[in-house]
Amino acid sequence: MTTASKSAPLSVWRPIATDTFLVGSPHYPEHVDESYWQRDADRMAAAGFNTVRLAEFAWHIIEPHEGTFDFDLFDRAIDVLGKAGIKTIMCTPTATPPRWLTARYPEVLRVDANGRAMSHGSRQHANLASAVFRKHSKRITKAMAEHYRGNSHIIGWQTDNEFNTSGSLSYGPVTLAEFQAFLEDKYKTIAALNDAWGGHFWATAYDDFDQVVLPLDYAPAPVGPTHVVDYHRFLAFVTARFQHDQVLILRATNPDWFVFHNLGRIDDIDFRGEFSTDLDFLGFDIYPHLYDEMQRVGGVGEVQALHLDICRGFTGNFIVPEQQSGFGAQPNISTLTPEPGEMRRMAYTSVARGADGVMFFRWRPAHFGAEIYWMGIIDHDDIPRRRYDEAKQFAGEVTALKDKILGTHVRMDLGIAGSDFDNQEMHRSYPVGMPSPQDDATLLHRYCYRHNIACGFIHPEDDLSKLKALYVPHWLKWTDAWTARIEAFAKAGGTVILGGRTGSRDVNNHVIRDTSPGKTLSALAGITVEEFGLLTPIGGDGLFEHGGRFGANTVRKKLPASSASRQYELKIGNAQVTAAHLYELLNVAPGTEVIGNWASRFAEGQAAMTSRKVGKGNVIYLGTYLSDALVEVLADQVLAPAGIVPLIADIPAGVEANIRESKDRRLLFILNTLGEPASIGNVPAGKDLLGDGKIRGGKLWLPAYGCSIIELDQVILRSQRAVLS
Ligand code: GAL
Repeated sequence: MTTASKSAPLSVWRPIATDTFLVGSPHYPEHVDESYWQRDADRMAAAGFNTVRLAEFAWHIIEPHEGTFDFDLFDRAIDVLGKAGIKTIMCTPTATPPRWLTARYPEVLRVDANGRAMSHGSRQHANLASAVFRKHSKRITKAMAEHYRGNSHIIGWQTDNEFNTSGSLSYGPVTLAEFQAFLEDKYKTIAALNDAWGGHFWATAYDDFDQVVLPLDYAPAPVGPTHVVDYHRFLAFVTARFQHDQVLILRATNPDWFVFHNLGRIDDIDFRGEFSTDLDFLGFDIYPHLYDEMQRVGGVGEVQALHLDICRGFTGNFIVPEQQSGFGAQPNISTLTPEPGEMRRMAYTSVARGADGVMFFRWRPAHFGAEIYWMGIIDHDDIPRRRYDEAKQFAGEVTALKDKILGTHVRMDLGIAGSDFDNQEMHRSYPVGMPSPQDDATLLHRYCYRHNIACGFIHPEDDLSKLKALYVPHWLKWTDAWTARIEAFAKAGGTVILGGRTGSRDVNNHVIRDTSPGKTLSALAGITVEEFGLLTPIGGDGLFEHGGRFGANTVRKKLPASSASRQYELKIGNAQVTAAHLYELLNVAPGTEVIGNWASRFAEGQAAMTSRKVGKGNVIYLGTYLSDALVEVLADQVLAPAGIVPLIADIPAGVEANIRESKDRRLLFILNTLGEPASIGNVPAGKDLLGDGKIRGGKLWLPAYGCSIIELDQVILRSQRAVLS
């Protein structure tokens, strides 16, 4: 595998620079008797696998006593696999420090808000901020890197395992000292910190950095929001620094290795910072049935697509180091079981949305420990059944198609501003009952998914030129540099839609002193916000609290019944919808057109939505948050005129379609996420590379969970030309 993408800037359009489509499994040879090993390797080879991932939880085997290393088990396992043609990705095993380490150095344990140290016995109980833990992390990384420096079976490394998935918080004295040092480095003087945190509010000013406290929940009233945001910035810094220690060692030892990390539940990681620029590419672990269980938003296909699109927005194409294969359970959670064909369909959804490698979790389930029912490709009784057959089919197909798939990026006609760490944390620090930017964006993404509109997440600093429109969901923090970028996008013909409250806080999480949305955005959009206020969510029963993956708020509280009447109507063109969450009353500058008005109570007749012509494009300001009904109006009145329409008209519910493309080819993925056949009309002309279905006269028939990848003809049907240009 050759990778050079670390030198390419982070971008949603970035494919992984590789000539191999990685396919295989995370594998735990240490969980079975050695008599299994050759059979495992032969079966993997027969399935067309080319890679395994090893050792992420095996520190205690590799260093059974402090300073004593024993590589024998992994040397032999890697050799058996290597001789069968299976390459190895090694992992730094720092998610599970051995017991000798936590017993001898208890100061490495994370400490909760009540001062209790985490116990040994699961994983991720060590504090990434601890200098002692960092020292041991560097030691084990160096020992493993040096031992495997010349081993030709090893192609790359995964750092740790799913940083922060089981939690990122720690509040003990070790963390406090590191937090104070981080703040001193950031602010230089205590006066600067007091300004940023607003020390004159409630006497929260400090005389020196060594007086600064951690933002504990155990306070009679809320802690200052900038204090909280800085704590999360600190946790992200600590996570990136911990990984950086390991990356430096791996790169110095063998520059030919690729280095990535597998992300799980993502808290306190800043993807536009060193965390990602340190890596060749990112890995995202994808468990669609688990997310469906956790979030209950729209079904397993939709939630998988949402997560993949968010992930791709961070850095571009990725690999999936853990792709759900079967039923999954820990003692306190369990998922539904993918039906026959569904595992392969879920793998193709990952590919369709940017995966340049897929590894099925896991080769075989463990017989002991906290995940005995997290199924794998082979069953507990060592018998390969339908999951093996599907993995084999997928591996054969994707390997045959790799030259078509690799090098392409996922098409996006509509971009949603995503992956901004400060914006997520600033919202969380002071949500005032509003949905998070991610929750707001999810409504738009859901519409696009259901109508197979090419949509994804993108940062305003990324290349916007391939988009037709950009939606910015209430990003509280905004910069003048971003205004310049979206202005250039609009001038070139793009449509920008700015959500309410955008630009209303500054870099220190203070409310701005200018009228919202601030000088440069006001000038660009041609409006200022005269007044804003809270509306009830539609249905009247939800304040949001934060939780969930990727900054979504998933927990809702009841609102008092008296608030149910505080819903305002919004009239846009000839459509009228009930608005949710927020109203803003807009002052409109000359030359800006009012395209939506409030239509009830005291706000009646006032401007709620505007459009200003900017160069060849438009900047639209929407003085509210999205609801499902409002998204439909936007799709009709704003997106369709901007050329954003379904890739395939009238696609049946449960069938998803999207495109991966490059300069010289276009692959249309049509995937049936349902356990029953589907018939799809209006399919553009091209060659079906998979052959699950039959295409006749623009009609495709797909079986349950059937998959189709159509390489579109260069000369395409007239009706599709406008859509696909
Ligand atoms: C991932 C983790 C794996 C395994 C899997 C199934 O989050 O990286 O080690 O725990 O989930 O639970």
